[in-house]
Amino acid sequence: MQSFIVNGGRRLNGSLRVQGSKNSALPILAATLLVKGKSVIHNVPDLSDIRCTLGILKNLGCSVSRESGTVYVDSSCASGYEIPESLMREMRSSVVFLGAIIGSHGKAVISTPGGCEIGLRPIDLHLYAMKRLGVEVNEGSGRLCCSTSGLEGGKITLSFPSVGATENAVLVATTAKGITTIVNCAREPEISDLCEFLNKCGARISGAGESIITVEGVNALHNAEHSVICDRIVASTYLVAGAVSGGDVELLNTEPHHLNSVLPLLEEAGCDIRVKCKSIRIKATGRLNRIDKIITQPYPGFPTDSQALFTTLASVAEGTSVIVENIFESRFKHVPELVRMGAKIRTEGRVAVVEGVRRLYGAEVQAQDLRGGAALVLAGICADGTTEVLNTEFTDRGYEDFENCLCSLNADVYRKVKKDGAIKKKNC
Ligand code: EPZ
Repeated sequence: MQSFIVNGGRRLNGSLRVQGSKNSALPILAATLLVKGKSVIHNVPDLSDIRCTLGILKNLGCSVSRESGTVYVDSSCASGYEIPESLMREMRSSVVFLGAIIGSHGKAVISTPGGCEIGLRPIDLHLYAMKRLGVEVNEGSGRLCCSTSGLEGGKITLSFPSVGATENAVLVATTAKGITTIVNCAREPEISDLCEFLNKCGARISGAGESIITVEGVNALHNAEHSVICDRIVASTYLVAGAVSGGDVELLNTEPHHLNSVLPLLEEAGCDIRVKCKSIRIKATGRLNRIDKIITQPYPGFPTDSQALFTTLASVAEGTSVIVENIFESRFKHVPELVRMGAKIRTEGRVAVVEGVRRLYGAEVQAQDLRGGAALVLAGICADGTTEVLNTEFTDRGYEDFENCLCSLNADVYRKVKKDGAIKKKNC
């Protein structure tokens, strides 16, 4: 069992290079299955979800290797079309293999995916997209058997702009016969990154980043080299860390325009934000102001993945902030833990009302999902005393070297490893 020990009260300062995006790298790695030859993907973060994805690729018969941030995938000999239940359960994005496997083999066997428990997270839209292009789906004993006698382009109208369903629709349409139109698709930068990679491999996809994507099916994809975009949610995490600690932090290797819905809220909280082409600097002095409303929405709206981080910020700001979570129904699991640290938060359904307090205090708290875990570490950074955040396995899904990145910015955070009754201190 591992936990983070955070000694609070230190002002963060310095600069940090932001890691590659997990949510871009995952579908791009799945997409390499469609490619004949060796794909070279740079800027891939080293995370447990990525390791799980590489495990699935190997299980399907791909040859996979990694040299620091670069992953090589050769899928020429990949004949597998079935993902074992144990691998499916490890993470939600295992479902994005569905479109890629069907696209390359005409059949796939998967089961319901696992992942952070932040809501019901059905996969009906993924299956609807498959069916629209001629895939037959048979469900039984927890397994989904999908097959097609030939993928045919068509119109896919999503009732909600689901990120994963859009990715699966794009993947399955890439090698379908004819033209596919995906209406009301997700517009997240990670979708554009996936489409850019596929286009480099010879796909014909247009409209990524807009609400209608058009895919003109091609017979086959050739290999290509691609660098994953930087992680906008990780960037927002370190910006909030700078804000709540009254710090001065510069993030390098960022795409500031991916944070157009986030930066104005940090300014509303009273932070000074300076943006250059690929960097963002945040300076915070004095007590933060409340943020009137934080409303999560599909991109380009404010991201649900940054909501927990801003709950921590609102907890120590002056005045009352209101947070509305519109994407996932169970994404306030960090709230009772913040309350243990002295935060004043009331939730009702999808709304949280946060009455800012001057100081939080250290406590033992439990991470219950990825971003909630990061939000608790940030709370520890600005709290009085020591905070222990249990369950590091959640943050390990999405933050590369989290504690060392925070330490490089002057935070006092380390990982406590408990093994056979003995406690060891790792890092810093
Ligand atoms: C992606 O999840 C991200 N994960 C999530 O990141 C992110 O929170 C989410 O998009 C929203 O931005 C990856 O990219 C790997 P959705 P995804 O399908 O694709 C409902 C993080 O912290 N829905 O856009 O699973 C669903 O229940 C994470 O990095 C259906 O009803 O999200 C939810 O309410 C966690 N039916 C909403 O749509 C479906 O078939 C949005 O989900 C699919 C989704």
